Amino acid sequence: MEKETILTGIRPTGHLHLGHYFGASQNWVKLQDKFDTYIEVADVQALTDNFNNPEKVRKCVRELVIDLLSIGIDPNKATLFIQSTIPEIAELTVYYSNLVTIARLERNPTVKTEIKQKKELFGESGESITYGFLGYPVSQAADITAFKGKLIPVGEDQLPLIEQCREIVRKFNSIYGETLIEPKPYLSKLPRIKGLDGNEKMGKSLGNAIFLADSEEEIKKKIMSAITDKNKIKIDDKANPDVCMVYYYHKLLNSKNLNTICEECKEGKRGCVACKKELIKEMLEFLKPITEKRKYYEENPELVDKILKEGNAKAKKVAEKTIKEVKKSMKINYFD
Ligand code: TRP
Repeated sequence: MEKETILTGIRPTGHLHLGHYFGASQNWVKLQDKFDTYIEVADVQALTDNFNNPEKVRKCVRELVIDLLSIGIDPNKATLFIQSTIPEIAELTVYYSNLVTIARLERNPTVKTEIKQKKELFGESGESITYGFLGYPVSQAADITAFKGKLIPVGEDQLPLIEQCREIVRKFNSIYGETLIEPKPYLSKLPRIKGLDGNEKMGKSLGNAIFLADSEEEIKKKIMSAITDKNKIKIDDKANPDVCMVYYYHKLLNSKNLNTICEECKEGKRGCVACKKELIKEMLEFLKPITEKRKYYEENPELVDKILKEGNAKAKKVAEKTIKEVKKSMKINYFD
């Protein structure tokens, strides 16, 4: 039986952190066994926000790919490719842009939130809102449909983008004939990971993240600064583990002493410094296999190149087939 195609994308804007890992990418490692898996490094989409910082995007592409390989994305199972190497995606974006109104894009809840954030940062004039930014959901619909992605493993925040893609597909098919596959979001019950500061979300820009690529020193510093129960002042004060980020990460890593940690904390038999030191040990243990793999790929950059070139070539073949079908349906296949 043919495996179903899943496709997901990730913007290269920084290293993966624990939030990405436990909230999404750990799951991709499992999915690659069951599905025909495509993972797109969405550099063109990253440029919609970072067009004036190309060096950053370029550097982040490598870092991200190494992160993905280090957590166990297997190039023999999943096709890992870079968006800009597939011009067919850009071409599809142009064709799809007729099928969506500006008003509809402005109503897209994800875009709406992002516009609001941009206006807060850059002022109300709306001058920070480029044509490329407003159109990125159209480009994302091209990402998905170029590979006939059926299932799209994403977080809740991406649902409006998948819905937008579905609308474009339906419109395309109704005007030009059945050509494209309507994708479905593939939501898994993954947690949203809290930050070191207790914020509901771990985020790069929030400065509260532990990155998979952090050095031992960084890990130590970050964990020592994590928020604990602020009512615990003395070492033998009784505390509430449920408001402590150190306990939260002990739980996240499935610490074998979890019950003891919880009990001792509640009974005032455990100091926060000792508890943090234990977490540092566990975190380094958890990151060890990832760090080792990272080292291997960092020392073998030509291997990373090879993986990407092969992924790009494989992805391009699929997208070329789709664009042929699309142009035929749109009657712009003049010389076939
Ligand atoms: N918009 C997604 C994000 O910011 C990244 C992305 C790009 C994506 N292309 C995609 C996700 C295609 C799913 C499918 O995280």
